[in-house]
Amino acid sequence: MFEQIQRVPGDAILGLIEAFNKDTNPNKVDLGVGVYRDAEGTTPIMRAVKEAEALLLKNETTKSYIGSHGDPRYAKVVLPMVLGEDSPVLAAGRASLTQSPGGTGALRLAADFIHTQLPGKGIWVSDPTWPNHLGIFEAAGVTLRKYPYVDAENRLDFPGMLAALKEIPEGDVVLLHACCHNPSGFDLNADQWQQVLEVVKDRKLLPLIDFAYQGFGDGLDEDAYGVRLLAENLDEALITSSCSKNFGLYRERTGALIAIAGDNEQMENVRSQIAIVARENYSNPPAHGGAIVAEILESAELAKQWREELTEMRNRINGLRRDFVEALKPFELDEKYAFIAEQRGMFSYTGLSPEQVDRLREEFGIYMVRSGRANVAGLASENLPYVAKAIAAVN
Ligand SMILES: Cc1ncc(COP(=O)(O)O)c(C=O)c1O
Repeated sequence: MFEQIQRVPGDAILGLIEAFNKDTNPNKVDLGVGVYRDAEGTTPIMRAVKEAEALLLKNETTKSYIGSHGDPRYAKVVLPMVLGEDSPVLAAGRASLTQSPGGTGALRLAADFIHTQLPGKGIWVSDPTWPNHLGIFEAAGVTLRKYPYVDAENRLDFPGMLAALKEIPEGDVVLLHACCHNPSGFDLNADQWQQVLEVVKDRKLLPLIDFAYQGFGDGLDEDAYGVRLLAENLDEALITSSCSKNFGLYRERTGALIAIAGDNEQMENVRSQIAIVARENYSNPPAHGGAIVAEILESAELAKQWREELTEMRNRINGLRRDFVEALKPFELDEKYAFIAEQRGMFSYTGLSPEQVDRLREEFGIYMVRSGRANVAGLASENLPYVAKAIAAVN
């Protein structure tokens, strides 16, 4: 039977990594990869994580199953991190957390939950969005449609977004990026979140907020602004959280699906269904990453150290954004690209065309996705002038 199976092309980003590794240009720069890089170009293990792992190694007493909702210690520290220490939603017992294999696992839980428990409801995602959103919801059998997000001038198309949200059929699900929009880097401000809230209320939509980069934009609490606004002003919401980026736990697969319901009773009903979805997918989530997060956030000392390290990462990214625009000044391109300093998170829609991206790769050894998305964390103070000069050459 397997003779009928067609081979599909590999992931475009993986192909890019391969080509980058083969490139012999001594000045080559990798802006394609989707992980944080420090000034040395590595994705380090955070010091707080190393310390927590040492404690776990010493104190862990069992490798038994942790249950479909995961480790209660993890839930206890992640809920306030996401919803806020003094969240009225938490106080009212309206929020449930299910530990998941990364943010991706949480999205798949949400997708299966929507498919089985909210039959007929479609999901609306931003155009563009993280490509895996499309695959996850399609694989789960949820009808997916798009609302505009970036305009032809490569700016946030908020009027277009809002107008489209107003047309979404009542009861459908709308996927919103909490912060650090991937791939564009364009985030909503407080006033825009308020307007989204009004439309979501009016149209009785269910928000699914993807929170994969908490702490990478403006700060742990600042980045949660939209999440908390919606959670506190709506009866129902779904949130997918990830510790891949902010704890650097990419391969440990550490995430969560948070479900908010109208009251405690409804929350428990929803929670019981999510347990079934988790069980049918993978039974229990992997434990190690969640245990690290719990170990860190339960310790005032480790939590402080982790926050400092996260601040370092955030400041590096935001500093590079400003320095990059500055490096474009000699070429009189700083105004044209000023938006790069305003975007947030690792990713930036540069507005470069696929042809310009190809030229950057072929002529300068600068690698990025053909959509023009660049990972700002792939820059370093030493290569800024080189990248700026290359961008000027293709402009
Ligand atoms: C928008 C968005 N959501 C979710 C994820 C999932 O991350 P993970 O499954 O690694 O936690 C990512 C990762 O790149 C992302 O960019």
